Amino acid sequence: MRLVLLGLPGAGKGTQGEQLAEKYSIPHISTGSLIRSVINSGLKLGEIVNAYISKGNLIPDELMMEMLRQRVLADDCRNGWILDGFPRTVKQAMHLDETLKQESSKLDRAFDIRISPQEAVLRITKRRVCRNCGQIYSLEQDLDQESGNCTSCGGPLYQRPDDNVEVAQHRLQVYMEQTHPVVHYYAQSGRLTSINGEQDIDAVFSDLSDAVAVLLQKSKDGGRA
Ligand code: AP5
Ligand code: MG
Repeated sequence: MRLVLLGLPGAGKGTQGEQLAEKYSIPHISTGSLIRSVINSGLKLGEIVNAYISKGNLIPDELMMEMLRQRVLADDCRNGWILDGFPRTVKQAMHLDETLKQESSKLDRAFDIRISPQEAVLRITKRRVCRNCGQIYSLEQDLDQESGNCTSCGGPLYQRPDDNVEVAQHRLQVYMEQTHPVVHYYAQSGRLTSINGEQDIDAVFSDLSDAVAVLLQKSKDGGRA
């Protein structure tokens, strides 16, 4: 199963991507997380990409496309993947289609997790992430206020440097200008499903799982035909 998760910053791509990956035993590939690990690695490339991410701007297409191509061609991706944060421009979307075509495979579906910009800013500023395992938390819902540590691994929680109101507002603007056209790209080719992201996490997951179940059934029926 090859799936793309689209949606405003804070829509829940990471939260849902993790759960879907566990359910279907395929990797969850977050390009934001890939970039953050390059930054933490101390490599020169990290300095270059940090100049973009810290301001809420997109990493240049060529660089991002190469990072992504290497990741999706890795062995653990043979049975599929869930992409979160890629593609973010129409150029990246076309590049993904081309890469898959070369591998004689294709994207199964793009999901657009829809929330309002107001909800996005609220969620982003209340997000905390575990520095060790990457588990995502919300100050609103599930943080152990006493310890402020990750309930899965006990690691320290931190706030992403791009999760302040000012940078978040800019990320929303960048999304509308550069990533929203990707939603149309998939809609026009009949590969888009919209999901209401303003429900609780379990309800969003249930809607996504139902839509994936339909895809799996169709591919089974297609296999029999
Ligand atoms: P990235 O890390 O992908 O950030 P983003 O797209 O802005 O999305 P977020 O991670 O902020 O939100 P999310 O949708 O994952 O929400 P989450 O599940 O955490 O990218 C960061 C940067 O990297 C970009 O700005 C760019 O610079 C660069 N970049 C990345 N990919 C690139 C590309 N392809 N090309 C170029 N540049 C690229 O949830 C958010 C919060 O809400 C959490 O606290 C969570 O607990 C809570 N929450 C989740 N679901 C719900 C719910 N249903 N109800 C209530 N709360 C919820
Ligand atoms: Mg994310």
